[in-house]
Amino acid sequence: MTTILDTTPDDDELGLPAARRRSAALERQIHEQPGRFRALTGDRPTGRLHLGHYFGTLHNRVRLQNLGVDMMVLIADYQVLTDRDVADRLAEHVEDLTLDYLAVGIDPDRATVFTHSAVPALNQLLLPFLSLVSVSELGRNPTVKDEIAHSRQSAVSGLMFTYPVHQAADILFCKAGLVPVGQDQLPHLEVARTVARRFNSRYGPVFPEPEALLSAAPLLLGTDGGKMSKSRGNAIALAATADETARMIRGAKTDADRNITYDPAARPEVSSLVLLAALCLDRDPHEVAGEIGGRGAAGLKGVVTDAVNDRFAPIRARRAELAQDRAHIRRVLRDGNEWANAIADDTLKEVREAMKAFY
Ligand code: TRP
Repeated sequence: MTTILDTTPDDDELGLPAARRRSAALERQIHEQPGRFRALTGDRPTGRLHLGHYFGTLHNRVRLQNLGVDMMVLIADYQVLTDRDVADRLAEHVEDLTLDYLAVGIDPDRATVFTHSAVPALNQLLLPFLSLVSVSELGRNPTVKDEIAHSRQSAVSGLMFTYPVHQAADILFCKAGLVPVGQDQLPHLEVARTVARRFNSRYGPVFPEPEALLSAAPLLLGTDGGKMSKSRGNAIALAATADETARMIRGAKTDADRNITYDPAARPEVSSLVLLAALCLDRDPHEVAGEIGGRGAAGLKGVVTDAVNDRFAPIRARRAELAQDRAHIRRVLRDGNEWANAIADDTLKEVREAMKAFY
């Protein structure tokens, strides 16, 4: 028993440089044989996604889908219960998230969009998985610690403590080999790898060990210069109107130097705006800054506003159109959930057979 709980992950596996090297190697394999890979990733339904999500991950998911990777996109409607405020408007958030996915190009004919709560067999994996991790391991998870530190709740719920194991079930139920995530999710991925390893060594080979696919996510700051986050009111939503976008960018923090340059270390706020324009225009940020030159913050803001509004006009139009068709959104989720259930039922059957819990 203790041998199962004592395996500490190898430092090298946890290290960021190693994860980056591994991701680069995976990228090469994906390009050679995309059809060999299933990827799973997801979001907590906390409301509308913003531009940071778009350039950080959505864009990459659509790219993988279009390359031919089997994409599973999870709306983590049980994980989000760690946050009471959000949980009060769950249905609305799930719909918003689905609309954002479809608008950016997640294609339900090629990708599976599904929700935790509709896939019982996925959730059932949580119980045997919880037996494979120790309480002290749960307590050491740096991402959870950080969330607890920033939480507005007065007490830490059991779900907050155990959700990384639930997330392991999200990944393992469909035997996803790839998990495209940002680096804050690496500790969770390590939990999933550990659970897979321990399950296999205890009961026999069932789960492949999933690997992180780190995207080179550009760091966009919020309009106040802090971390971009919906709850801080400093994020431009994908679904924002052109006017709302202009207003937010007009109010964005800059600095007193009229000459616009791209220098993220010395001028984080100005550089983040330059970067946003450059991403929207598919251009190099130094070049974009050079062209704005001495036109100051107002010149910069004009360029950023046009770049964002032009880039997102088609996505926003598509989103508005899709929002009119509730039946379509429900169908996408129903079909996605049906497929996720078929996969989860098969995996649970294998798990119960491996555990000799088949009566
Ligand atoms: N924890 C992720 C987030 O907060 C969302 C998520 C849930 C997820 N399950 C997942 C991401 C499985 C990757 C794989 O953004």
